[in-house]
Amino acid sequence: MGTDALFRLSSAPETETVTITFEGRAIRVPAGLNVAAALLAGGVHNFRSSVVGGSPRAPYCMMGVCFECLVEIDGVPARQSCLTPVREGMTVSPQIGAAALSFDGGE
Ligand code: FES
Repeated sequence: MGTDALFRLSSAPETETVTITFEGRAIRVPAGLNVAAALLAGGVHNFRSSVVGGSPRAPYCMMGVCFECLVEIDGVPARQSCLTPVREGMTVSPQIGAAALSFDGGE
């Protein structure tokens, strides 16, 4: 089931926009959105693939509970897109399978 019928931005006029990139495609969205809302508004339906089975996944709760919205943002994997505000020039990629996380304290 697609998400087009379930999500749309309000028609309130926005004064400021930012451009983010998803898989090389520029998406211009109102400033202040979270990444999940921005991608949905940009027609993105596949945010990640499940670790078991590889099925396509997309945001569900939009409030940080379900973790279905994980993406890679500016090279950092496993970011919850529904909790991350958009920023000009942000680069977003789908989260494919399990993320290789670093636990070295940033060193
Ligand atoms: S959509 Fe559920 S945690 Fe982001």
